[in-house]
Amino acid sequence: MPRARCWAWYGESGAGKSVAGLAIIGLIDPPGRISGGEIYLSGLRIDNLPPEEMRRIRGKRIGMIFQDPLTSLNPLYKIGDQLVETIRTHLNLSESRARKRAIDLLAEVGIPAPDKAHRCLSARIFRRHAPARRDRAWRSAPNRN
Ligand SMILES: Nc1ncnc2c1ncn2[C@@H]1O[C@H](COP(=O)(O)OP(=O)(O)O)[C@@H](O)[C@H]1O
Ligand SMILES: [Mg+2]
Repeated sequence: MPRARCWAWYGESGAGKSVAGLAIIGLIDPPGRISGGEIYLSGLRIDNLPPEEMRRIRGKRIGMIFQDPLTSLNPLYKIGDQLVETIRTHLNLSESRARKRAIDLLAEVGIPAPDKAHRCLSARIFRRHAPARRDRAWRSAPNRN
């Protein structure tokens, strides 16, 4: 895949797109396994890396936007804490700098009052803002389906 380009990958439901994506980022659950082939990221073979090394790459250099974003965050934890945990896994930042970055990210995706919102449970953020954001995305791109 060329650098900084978008590629679409399509196939009928059940064809194996999601499973292939999970295999690429090393998230196939046992007893599932990659039975053949090799996966490279910028020349580095990544399908046989130890889990800890793959964890450092995943979420920083390679990631997956899951089909249902509402299940990707734990609704019972504060949104800011979850963002800070992920940011600090990948960037060598203090808690307070990671917190500032988390608040900036909330602002970037249009969550109102991000300086307060980061202390809310993610369930509350979803309930309040997810439907509105879907509407807004739809209105700004009416021809997309
Ligand atoms: N390469 C594969 N090896 C074994 N099973 C697979 C493979 N790809 C897909 N499957 C099976 O097919 C099912 C549907 O695949 P999935 O990746 O969810 O399809 P899609 O995302 O294209 O709709 C998976 O749950 C899995 O059981
Ligand atoms: Mg799928």
